[in-house]
Amino acid sequence: MSTPVKVAVTGAAGQIGYSLLFRIASGELLGKDTPVELRLLEIAPALKTLEGVVMELDDCAFPTLAKVEIGDDPNVIFDGASVALLVGARPRSKGMERGDLLEANGAIFTAQGKALNDHAADDIRVTVTGNPANTNALIAMSNAPDIGSERFSALTRLDHNRAVAQLAAKVGAPVSEVTHMTIWGNHSATQYPDLFHARVGGRNAAEAVGDQAWIEDTFIPTVAKRGAAIIEARGSSSAASAASATIDHTRDWLRGSAQGDWVSMAVRSDGSYGVAEGLMSSFPVTTTAGGGHEIVQGLEIDDFSRGKIDASVAELSDERDAVTQLGLIG
Ligand code: NAI
Repeated sequence: MSTPVKVAVTGAAGQIGYSLLFRIASGELLGKDTPVELRLLEIAPALKTLEGVVMELDDCAFPTLAKVEIGDDPNVIFDGASVALLVGARPRSKGMERGDLLEANGAIFTAQGKALNDHAADDIRVTVTGNPANTNALIAMSNAPDIGSERFSALTRLDHNRAVAQLAAKVGAPVSEVTHMTIWGNHSATQYPDLFHARVGGRNAAEAVGDQAWIEDTFIPTVAKRGAAIIEARGSSSAASAASATIDHTRDWLRGSAQGDWVSMAVRSDGSYGVAEGLMSSFPVTTTAGGGHEIVQGLEIDDFSRGKIDASVAELSDERDAVTQLGLIG
């Protein structure tokens, strides 16, 4: 077998980690022929729990899992990593203002960006799942000047997958017939799931639905508020679906998106579609095996979509201003 690929995961003892690690270890991220070394980062109080998770990983006897390292120092854990899945983040606690949340996470993603810069492998790809994902990715990217900005991304694939499922249910088609779905903007309630470029069974999705009121009043809010609905029903936030989306996102990035389709990923804006350059915003993106990505060009954006995209991008811009004022990015 070839040399194991080092995959770092932060927040590894958390809920998402508990679904994610087993899927990576079983070969769902890199393929069944690629051995993987998991390098798991946690804060010191969670290391004991993480030891228990590692015991379970051992007990699965996955043929693709070559080694597991755990620790609380990103400089050690990120050493030689080719993939970093930044899942661990500080949740909003009672009484915490938005600025406090950005600051607390800013400290984490500043340190992790620097550690990646100094220790990761040359082919590193970074996926940020921990919220606020887009701005955390921006902070990590800004603190890793030696790593190309095209190697950082944030997760909007869960929103994408939610949008695919809602559309498929509405028109009574299997999810496999839905293509060209796009989430634009921020992974937040302002995100814009776009049915005007999506297709179902090859047909334009908005036309197949034929109900603008459903798109505006049901589809968009259902997708954007799905996280809150899961918390309400389950008593805790989406974890297995978030782990699954983290795998989908990173697998497609590393191994290439499906021919003739695209995926949603938050990547650094190059100014496409009027999104201010430098913001980490979700776009329709194609990826090629080996880890390259391109923002799909030339889609026509009507006034309705323009307003929705602009609103979400304005929120990203506010978040960038806030973390700039906190001195977290230059
Ligand atoms: P969780 O609270 O169960 O686990 C988070 C883990 O991160 C904890 O074990 C904690 O000890 C660890 N952690 C905190 N600071 C850390 C640091 N500096 N270094 C390493 N580990 C650290 O949370 P859960 O459910 O696993 O969610 C993780 C994150 O993912 C949250 O920020 C959540 O909001 C976000 N999320 C994002 C989604 C997306 O679509 N982008 C979807 C669902 C969740």
